[in-house]
Amino acid sequence: MAKRILLTGGCGYIGSHICLELIEQGYQPVVLDNLSNSSTTPLQRIEQLTGQHIPFIEGDVRDEAILDHIFSTYELSATIHLAGLKSVAESVAAPIAYYQTNFGGTVALCQAMQRHRVKHFIYSSSATVYGLTAQSPIREDAPTAPASPYGQSKLMAEIALRDIAHADPQWKIAILRYFNPVGAHACGQIGEDPCGVPNNLMPYVSQVAAGKQPKIRIFGNDYPTPDGTGMRDYLHVCDLAHAHLCALRWLDGASGAKVFNLGTGRGYSVLEIIRAYEKACGHALPFQFLPRRDGDIASYHAEPALATRELRWSATRTIEDMCRDAWNWQSRNPNGYT
Ligand code: NAD
Ligand code: UFG
Repeated sequence: MAKRILLTGGCGYIGSHICLELIEQGYQPVVLDNLSNSSTTPLQRIEQLTGQHIPFIEGDVRDEAILDHIFSTYELSATIHLAGLKSVAESVAAPIAYYQTNFGGTVALCQAMQRHRVKHFIYSSSATVYGLTAQSPIREDAPTAPASPYGQSKLMAEIALRDIAHADPQWKIAILRYFNPVGAHACGQIGEDPCGVPNNLMPYVSQVAAGKQPKIRIFGNDYPTPDGTGMRDYLHVCDLAHAHLCALRWLDGASGAKVFNLGTGRGYSVLEIIRAYEKACGHALPFQFLPRRDGDIASYHAEPALATRELRWSATRTIEDMCRDAWNWQSRNPNGYT
């Protein structure tokens, strides 16, 4: 029988790609999402693509009764936990919501799993836990120093997970620190659908390419990088989704909690992204240089060797693939899922 996996946040950008990958690899995802930053449309599209029904529960990851209902209804073998809030700026303005949802939600979920003796767990963490001073390539043992309540809340959840695994050796936990996920599934049916004006580079570039924003704002051209613009380790969301499948397999032979970086191991500048996107969409993209964005750092990228060695995962898709698939999604869905 196919293994059932609880996927929290499965209606979101990354969660929907993991959901599709799980089904393609023979697993049965059960999705819990409160739809605070998504809708059920991605699940409907995945059902159409795969011909499989996806059990969906609308609810909050902190809701004990809902969690008990899920764990007693479905025979689950593991949880992949993505449900959470992810805006750095919003977390500065509303820290309580971030600690409650990201930290409190993770603890509540683990409590429910403990009650129902499901102890395999994959956690969506972020490179943001490293803070501003880490030297690239960043290894997993680099010091952590998150610069926002968002980053703090992700790190606090990591710490709780390590303590949980330490206290009970039956827990097996993969903590995955994502670098910069971008792009969309090549089918063009699921992708990133940000609310309002996008904060992140790739969805903003997509909207300029589609004529929905007038020009790309490049935050800083005086960084100590080859072309002066900020550099990041962008990775294709399908490579990221696949890493969760590798982590699920790794959990079977694992012990304790372990942190893995998920990135390609190389950085691209804002100008390099714009050039690659121009090739993908077939026309020039207007941009202007603006001052640096508060709190940004010049450049960082992952050291992904641990994931390659232990998870047997590495990113295979190029920056051209990322831009092509982002444009394919944007041009087929000019208004996102609506
Ligand atoms: P997203 O907002 O698209 O998806 C998150 C999903 O969680 C949404 O569907 C939302 O409705 C749901 N959700 C939020 N609060 C909830 C709650 N209390 N109970 C149940 N569901 C809830 O975000 P995403 O980009 O897919 O990110 C998923 C995860 O990956 C997050 O935990 C985020 O911190 C982490 N992450 C994202 C990035 C990135 O650049 N996108 C980078 C590093 C880490
Ligand atoms: N940038 C622009 N113009 C924009 C948006 C971004 O020039 O309109 C630049 C930024 O200054 C930076 C680069 O593009 O140099 C990437 O910026 P993003 O906002 O796309 O990504 P960040 O690296 O700043 O942050 C993202 C998430 C964080 C997460 C981090 C690591 O927003 O929450 O990746 O996973 F922690």
